[in-house]
Amino acid sequence: MALFPEAWMDELLSKNDIASVVAEYVELTPKGRRLWGCCPFHSEKTPSFSVSADKQMYYCFGCHAGGGVVQFIKEMEKLNYPEAVAFLARRVNMELPSEINDEQLRRERALKERLYNACRDAAMFYHKQLMGDNGVKAREYLAKRGIDRAAVTRFGIGYAPEGWEDLKKHMLEKGYREDELISAGLAVKGKSGRVYDAYRARVIFPIIAANERVVAFGARTMIADETPKYINTGDTPIYSKRANLYAINLLKGKKIDDIIMVEGYMDAIRLHSAGIDNAVASLGTALTAKQAKLIKRYVSKVFIAYDGDSAGRNATLRGLDILAAEGIDVKVITIPDDMDPDDFVKKYGAEAFLKLKDSARTLEMFKLDFMSQSYDLMTDDGREKYAESACNYIAKLKPVIQRRYCKYVAEKTGISLEAIVKQCELDSKDDNANSFALTRNNRDKKSPSELSEREKCELTILACALMGKDVFVRIRKHPDFSVENVFVNDDIKGCYKAIAECYERGETPNIGAILAAMPGDEQMLTPALIEQESITDGYVTAADCIERITVIDLKNKLQSVANGMKNASGDKRMRLSDEYAALIKELKQRNKS
Ligand code: UTP
Ligand code: MN
Repeated sequence: MALFPEAWMDELLSKNDIASVVAEYVELTPKGRRLWGCCPFHSEKTPSFSVSADKQMYYCFGCHAGGGVVQFIKEMEKLNYPEAVAFLARRVNMELPSEINDEQLRRERALKERLYNACRDAAMFYHKQLMGDNGVKAREYLAKRGIDRAAVTRFGIGYAPEGWEDLKKHMLEKGYREDELISAGLAVKGKSGRVYDAYRARVIFPIIAANERVVAFGARTMIADETPKYINTGDTPIYSKRANLYAINLLKGKKIDDIIMVEGYMDAIRLHSAGIDNAVASLGTALTAKQAKLIKRYVSKVFIAYDGDSAGRNATLRGLDILAAEGIDVKVITIPDDMDPDDFVKKYGAEAFLKLKDSARTLEMFKLDFMSQSYDLMTDDGREKYAESACNYIAKLKPVIQRRYCKYVAEKTGISLEAIVKQCELDSKDDNANSFALTRNNRDKKSPSELSEREKCELTILACALMGKDVFVRIRKHPDFSVENVFVNDDIKGCYKAIAECYERGETPNIGAILAAMPGDEQMLTPALIEQESITDGYVTAADCIERITVIDLKNKLQSVANGMKNASGDKRMRLSDEYAALIKELKQRNKS
């Protein structure tokens, strides 16, 4: 559970008071026991976002976002847990525990810092070149492509002059070393040992990471048909193309519902310029799980809008699976006539693009269509064979959505819906094991409203246990209470155990610290901790919840015994029916009391 030493975390949390951290993002006004402001996580006009300084927690009564200071930074800065902790450490000038005694780590960090700065300075140099006398042709090129001044500024577009050493000279003057320029991908070493600029006579698109630092560049030729069209920075100590997305830096602080994933620099720039400001580009490479995880920090819905050609379709197919595997809801925007999003928006405008978005196909439709390309749907034989493999696929989908796709295939093939449905039923008998493969990844994160009745009870018990040691001790003595029987949700159980340990050490549990020590999803726990404020008698409330949990478990047991009886015979059946009777009796007694 603990990624960082406890004492170090305590210091970090005490220095990063939640009210002061949140105040850097949200205007807060005190009212009652809390500070209030407009929620940074959803759109609202009247404040329902609150910060409790005493609990070191925030909670939004509108969208139920909540947690401690680390969670807040995770959400706000779109970081993962260790990154968020590091962010807070930097905020208060604390060294990370790993850095304190490790000279090599320190050196690596210092080198990275220099490379970040080098890339930033290079981007500024290129931009100046574009805007100056050297940049006339490049400005003409951009104007011809319909990239206006605002886009040039927003994307920090630049121009690398023709000379072999223009950037190098500038950077050496600024105090960078040749080897640093090479490390950052800004210069290359020729066979003769000469070091020269990596990009020359090209338009420069800086790639800016989620942390808002320039990490790499794409350099486009202005000559038609010259290859390569783009030269891109390879992997460096500060850049991995598999973990980055172009334009991701522009998403921070925006309240977006979904992301549009395009292939190229120009596509992303065009969409943003047209007011569609939730586009990012995967830059021509196959999407990776790391990129999918990055996206998940922002949204859980993605529209893929790759080029309309067959390479684009193949890339789409791979991208779909990668995104779906991360539990992202994916849809496919199809651009007609082999155009890319840039061409399309330039020709028909943003409205037309948004219409394409409205009629985006689901992942399943896209796959069913893709599959059909391998068959000749003009012949009976082709249609039947296609229907067969389509049904095989549909049979593996969630039962509730199968009918929709049966209809889709029926319409596509002219085969009756009845026959398609029947075929799917046959196929699903063959292959039950796979039936939820596609949905399995969707389950991890639960919003408060998705919690089961049982989980809500578990949370309330947790809230009661936090009210004080006396309540905690009484709960623990409850005849039906044991940690293993009461808590089935691992997050809640983990939290309970942390609380218990605190009391046993004679300390008062610090909710902020407990939340911060949970790398998992703490969002879920916050509502219960907020609810705690309205509990009058912790023990009575907890006892009621324990009772409810016991009844829920009894009823489940009853159900499974009843199911078992259906298939059992002889002795086994006798035994089960005895058990059934006993359970019924116990339930009746509990209901009476
Ligand atoms: P495209 O060839 O579709 O280019 O490659 P594009 O984005 O439409 O660019 P323009 O409109 O011709 O300027 C899509 C993406 O693939 C990568 C780039 O990231 C590009 O944006 N690519 C393409 C390269 O890295 N190198 C290349 O030589 C070509
Ligand atoms: Mn293009």
